[in-house]
Amino acid sequence: MTSPLSTADLQAAFRERFGSDPDGVWAAPGRVNLIGEHTDYNEGFVLPFAIGMSARVAVSLRTDRTVRVVSTFGNHGVVSTDLNKLSAADAKGWTKYPLGVVWAFTEAGVDVPGFDLLLDSDVPLGAGLSSSHAIECAVATALNDLCAADLPVERLVLLTQRAENFFVGAPTGIMDQSASLRGREGAAVFLDCRDQHAELVPLALAENGLAILVIDTKVSHSHSTGGYASRRASCELGAEVMGVKALRDLTLDDLAEAAGLLDEETFRRVRHVVTEDARVLDTVETLRDKGPADIGALLDASHASMRDDFEISCAELDLAVETARGAGAIGARMTGGGFGGAAIALIPVEQEAPVRAAVADAFRAAGYKEPDIFTVTPAEGARRVI
Ligand code: GLA
Repeated sequence: MTSPLSTADLQAAFRERFGSDPDGVWAAPGRVNLIGEHTDYNEGFVLPFAIGMSARVAVSLRTDRTVRVVSTFGNHGVVSTDLNKLSAADAKGWTKYPLGVVWAFTEAGVDVPGFDLLLDSDVPLGAGLSSSHAIECAVATALNDLCAADLPVERLVLLTQRAENFFVGAPTGIMDQSASLRGREGAAVFLDCRDQHAELVPLALAENGLAILVIDTKVSHSHSTGGYASRRASCELGAEVMGVKALRDLTLDDLAEAAGLLDEETFRRVRHVVTEDARVLDTVETLRDKGPADIGALLDASHASMRDDFEISCAELDLAVETARGAGAIGARMTGGGFGGAAIALIPVEQEAPVRAAVADAFRAAGYKEPDIFTVTPAEGARRVI
């Protein structure tokens, strides 16, 4: 994992690359989803939180319709784009995230005159912690300020989703950017993805002697290809056959009828989404009434549903979850879109060392890549740093 540059170092690096001071520095975090997976694009419920790792951008406006971007990672130099010729097909690597945001802002009528941008990020890439949305949200927050667009968070969420869907080409929902933009220290974001109604739910981990461990399996995944899109298509088919606008409109009581109307695989996809929505609501209630020590069974049930019904887990994620649980975790589940990435384990703080050791041993014994294991706490969302 990389460590972040200090703000002063980021400003100095910007000066070195572009020859003048940036107008400002903005940050947006990655996220962990506590529960509510593949429910966002079904207009259901999610409960993610922003984490302490973030993407940071130093930015200065230009007036010549040119965007120049460079990062502290990767080996290419400054990439220059003429905004009059902005095209998704020409955007390479991580540059499609800032350029996608510019595209979405421009399409929405915001005049982006051009800018220079230096990116630094300590959100691990491909770990399922939303490194791409962290970049998009940092850029969106910067442009919202610098272009005096004054867009409310709901619009920023939808614009970054458009950037992902139509510029980057990943048919994702609104969970990741909502967590990055709305996150607050010590709380999870309970979001109704139908109308973007959001409430902060206290997630008092340390106060209860608990921690959340992220186990990055290092199995890389992409939501621009394959599995993610096919799961989304199954959900849309399920909603259509059941005669509802979105799977959010089905309840647990509707599942018996769904079993009779849907083919076996589509039924299991639908059952995951309907039961997962119910688990999010249960988790919120449990957190409010009893606290985080009581949500373990819901996390476990969520993982089983993703493994067996939605089929988006993989052997490494299952091993991480089972081993963590066996070594003392209260509950564990894969987090994010699936097909790789990370699992989370809710642990009593004194179990951190045994759980880490057990997972590392199990991965070694199975011949898997060495996982990255670290704790996360709910942190502040996107903001101007300086
Ligand atoms: C990815 C997507 C989100 C969401 C999750 C699954 O992270 O970006 O919109 O669909 O997968 O819950």
